[in-house]
Amino acid sequence: MEEHKKEKRYSRVYDQLAVLVKKSHNQQARMATVVAVLHHKMDHFFWTGFYMIDQGEMTVNVYQGPVACQILEKNKGVCWASYNRKETLVVEDVHQFPGHIACDSRSNSEIVVPFKNREGEILGVLDIDSKEKAAFSAVDAGWLEKILQLIIL
Ligand code: SME
Repeated sequence: MEEHKKEKRYSRVYDQLAVLVKKSHNQQARMATVVAVLHHKMDHFFWTGFYMIDQGEMTVNVYQGPVACQILEKNKGVCWASYNRKETLVVEDVHQFPGHIACDSRSNSEIVVPFKNREGEILGVLDIDSKEKAAFSAVDAGWLEKILQLIIL
């Protein structure tokens, strides 16, 4: 998607989500709403979901898209790298990323954003895959970080 169009689309999605998520104080309800809205409004999203740390394991949570790995092997792949580095990772070509975990071979690029609580502790990550190469940019990173701020309890 062209960067200007992307900006406009995120801006509208953000305003919509700001209203929607306030209707519940349940963390998972808010996460599910974010995933559903993003997945259906952003044309370049092929898999959209959360992986959350559960008893030390990176475990799949609410998502939309093809069936995904339930548990990601520790310290391997993009989700773990983002979690360990405590930063958003934009990967233009997942096949070039050392240790990338291919839950679906149709994914070619990926963005992973850490999901933090109010104390700044990372609870998990928002992971989005695209079939296109280099589908994600700093525009996605900025907006997705802002969207996650909306759903922190
Ligand atoms: N690509 C991820 C694994 C999760 S799936 O893409 C849904 C990774 O390497 O961490």
